[in-house]
Amino acid sequence: MVGATLENMDIDLGIGAVRAARTVLADHLPATPSWAAPALTEAAGCQVVLKHEEVQPTGAFKVRGGLNLLAGMSPEQRRRGVVSASTGNHGQSLAYASRRFGARCQIVLPEPVNPTKARALRGWGAELVVYGQDMETAGAHARELAGRGGARFVHPADEPALIAGVGTLYLELLTAHPDLDYLFVPVGGGSGAASACLVAASVAPGCRVIAVQTTASRAAHDSWRTGELVSRPNRTAVEGLAIGIGYATTQALLRRHLTDFLLVDDEQVRVAQLLLLTHAHTLAEGAGAAALAGLLSMADRLAGTRAAIVVSGGNASPAELGSVLGARPVAAA
Ligand SMILES: Cc1ncc(COP(=O)(O)O)c(C=O)c1O
Repeated sequence: MVGATLENMDIDLGIGAVRAARTVLADHLPATPSWAAPALTEAAGCQVVLKHEEVQPTGAFKVRGGLNLLAGMSPEQRRRGVVSASTGNHGQSLAYASRRFGARCQIVLPEPVNPTKARALRGWGAELVVYGQDMETAGAHARELAGRGGARFVHPADEPALIAGVGTLYLELLTAHPDLDYLFVPVGGGSGAASACLVAASVAPGCRVIAVQTTASRAAHDSWRTGELVSRPNRTAVEGLAIGIGYATTQALLRRHLTDFLLVDDEQVRVAQLLLLTHAHTLAEGAGAAALAGLLSMADRLAGTRAAIVVSGGNASPAELGSVLGARPVAAA
């Protein structure tokens, strides 16, 4: 697909869908806090607001999308169930929502599996299938399982109901802090960043949305830069961001409002995780600290501004926590 096609792509999704999702979610989730984190100012070079999605019942922002999707399914569709591929948080979102709405939920996990996320998935009642070494292989298997059993295949990012659901976090954030100059958002498949673009364009057009991905899994970044949906090696240890291909719907939305797309390496993400722990009493998994890693990489250009970062999740594995504690603190810390 070429850039012109992405730019002209007809997407049946606007701010109205995000506002409607907020009404749906009001019955299920309270708004999450967004606190100023003054202890981060020295390292960040600007005032920082943290949007805390690690406090969600599943430990990640994705739960908003699953609830919105399941809420819109008919009783018959729920009976047939949902099936999807996930490294954990998107799966937990569907599992949590399926439990709420009485649906069957099958999740295909690629290896290596984060044991913290697998345990939580089982706890929400999901049936787990471990298959393949990456999300693309796991996704193909999930699609096949759905075809066999009549369940609804849920794409991890190219699903308007998921994008509208996760967009509610940005509606909360930008309503509470309408004067932000920057908003940093982590990207795997891009549902979160696409929704941030959608909401910012409507609610806070002066706020620049900056996406962040890792160099070891840079498909979304390269898709945005080239205007084509490209595949790239998918080797990051930051599993929430481990996607090897650009997705059409999210890329089309990113093209409309994203200001810039940064790459950070896995070590920068670990350093940001450590900083959140020591300076903001916040336990983030790698994907949940990637936005801060992106912000730190351009700290010298942020003087005098106000920036928000989304702590998108906190489901770090024990091995990951070990490597975070071994990371080198940032100089200003
Ligand atoms: C904690 C966390 N942050 C960020 C992301 C990236 O989200 P998206 O795939 O919507 O870009 C994920 C994806 O699973 C995640 O789990």
